[in-house]
Amino acid sequence: MGRIIAVANQKGGVGKSTTAINLSACLAEKGKKVLAIDIDPQGNTTSGLGVDKNGVENTLYELLLGEADVKKTIVKDVVENLDLIPSNINLSGAEIELINMDDKEYILRKITEKLRRKYDYIIMDCPPSLNMLTINALTAATSVLVPIQCEYYALEGLSQLIHTIDLVKDRLNKKLVMEGVVFTMYDARTNLSLQVVENVKDNLEQNIYKTIIPRNVRLAEAPSYGQPINLYDSRSAGAEAYRLLAEEVINREDK
Ligand SMILES: Nc1ncnc2c1ncn2[C@@H]1O[C@H](COP(=O)(O)OP(=O)(O)OP(=O)(O)O)[C@@H](O)[C@H]1O
Ligand SMILES: [Mg+2]
Repeated sequence: MGRIIAVANQKGGVGKSTTAINLSACLAEKGKKVLAIDIDPQGNTTSGLGVDKNGVENTLYELLLGEADVKKTIVKDVVENLDLIPSNINLSGAEIELINMDDKEYILRKITEKLRRKYDYIIMDCPPSLNMLTINALTAATSVLVPIQCEYYALEGLSQLIHTIDLVKDRLNKKLVMEGVVFTMYDARTNLSLQVVENVKDNLEQNIYKTIIPRNVRLAEAPSYGQPINLYDSRSAGAEAYRLLAEEVINREDK
């Protein structure tokens, strides 16, 4: 049975989509069968993996509302071993439509439970908010991975996120585990990045990934070419870092 990892942080622009795209691609590169699910109406994971978000017929929105089935929604082999459930701006309407549905927190889980047998990993890119879509992702997940940007306000909002994760664990998904936090956009030229990492390590009682994702311009460029970093620039520092992260994620499972 595959692991289902939600990449979540309600803080915007911390590297969720970059991590979802490149972790998925690096797991796939290692021969794992991976499904990425774009749970953000911004559709960054969709376009970052080279899929035209406004050209797709069915998206997560139609799937959640029961208007399309899984077969018609999954985009196969966006890269080798990696499939995608795409999203676009239509998904922003789902929030309101979900409210009137029975078991509204469990809609995504019912879908992923069936898909789990087919994939080693399902990686979900969450939106920058603690809304019903994020709750659905946390309810479907087996673990949560939290990207933290190496900047001054890194810890802001984190206690709120951890509180939400605990609530979901209590009420909706007893088996949910905190996979850990991963530092992103680390800038070795500044003291600030180092201070943030030290500070978070001292103050946060969570698993912290050894791999630190550096600030790397190739990572920022890759989405405009619709390619994950390992294809866009296989030897870049960003590609190396996400490969190491993928390895750590795989090893964590063996423990
Ligand atoms: N390690 C990195 N080095 C350089 N640029 C990065 C890195 N990680 C992310 N970026 C850039 O920073 C911006 C925000 O990253 P990203 O979209 O992954 O964050 P996000 O948390 O998904 O944002 P949102 O909350 O809007 O969904 C993007 O322009 C991205 O290309
Ligand atoms: Mg994003």
